[in-house]
Amino acid sequence: MGCVARQEITPTKIRDHVSRLGELYPPIPLSSIDRTVQNPDLVRDRYGHLLTYLARVELEVDRNVLELLTVLPDVEENDRFFYEDVWQPQEIQHGIILDQLGQDIGMLPSEPMLEVNWKYKLLGALGRFRGIQDVSRLLYYLTGASTERQAVLAYNTFTDGLAELGEQAMVETVITPIKRQEPGHFAFYRMSAEYMVNTYKMKPWQLWLTRMLRKVSYNLVGTNGLPRFKQDMGSVIATLGVDADLEKYAKEIGRLEARVLWANRNGMEFPPYFLTALRESVEMYREYGLGHVRTAV
Ligand SMILES: [Fe+2]
Ligand SMILES: [Fe+2]
Repeated sequence: MGCVARQEITPTKIRDHVSRLGELYPPIPLSSIDRTVQNPDLVRDRYGHLLTYLARVELEVDRNVLELLTVLPDVEENDRFFYEDVWQPQEIQHGIILDQLGQDIGMLPSEPMLEVNWKYKLLGALGRFRGIQDVSRLLYYLTGASTERQAVLAYNTFTDGLAELGEQAMVETVITPIKRQEPGHFAFYRMSAEYMVNTYKMKPWQLWLTRMLRKVSYNLVGTNGLPRFKQDMGSVIATLGVDADLEKYAKEIGRLEARVLWANRNGMEFPPYFLTALRESVEMYREYGLGHVRTAV
């Protein structure tokens, strides 16, 4: 990567990227999926909790929009274009479809958390100061990038696992179409974060504050900082089979942030708080089991 000069990112390029995503990937209608499941019991035993976890995370998109509006009262046009016209309509369908499939195989409906955390409200109140709002924006992009990257990896592994079980309908009409939409989301956040750090040029104190806030508040996708979801995330990590080499996984999901936010300081390949969060979830799951996910039968 080192010798290839990265093209400079501009708001126009980001906008073009978002329009392309909108044209390429209309929201997936529930009616387009084939709900045939060859062996519901086996799929439920092996992947039921993963399915419910992913469904919940996807359905929480509506809270994510509220959080965004809370911390970025003066939302930029590109951000609005992305979350309102492309991202939310795509993600909510992911949630609806996965949740339906979960119920088809005997899982309870997932229960998305839709209440905005007080930390976002505090950040929103401080966002009256323009300098702070820039910090919030960068936090939003970094959170989005890490989240989307985890989604891409989860869907990749899920596809392989379902294919192995011979669940072709799920692979072809559900997971593959969903999976196709996630890398474009990641790219939006990556480009936006790179733009802020490299071109828009945030001040040293803003970058410092962003680093501190990431350090103290980093959460894996869908844990919402709560123990019961951290336990469930531990089981997701185990199902994905990445618990044997957490450092490798931390590198996969933390590489971008190590570069953009920490400039690979002292050879950093991922920010240490990624690994801390992964270890915590795995340990909590080993100790206490599943926290929230249940089957209906
Ligand atoms: Fe999604
Ligand atoms: Fe996504």
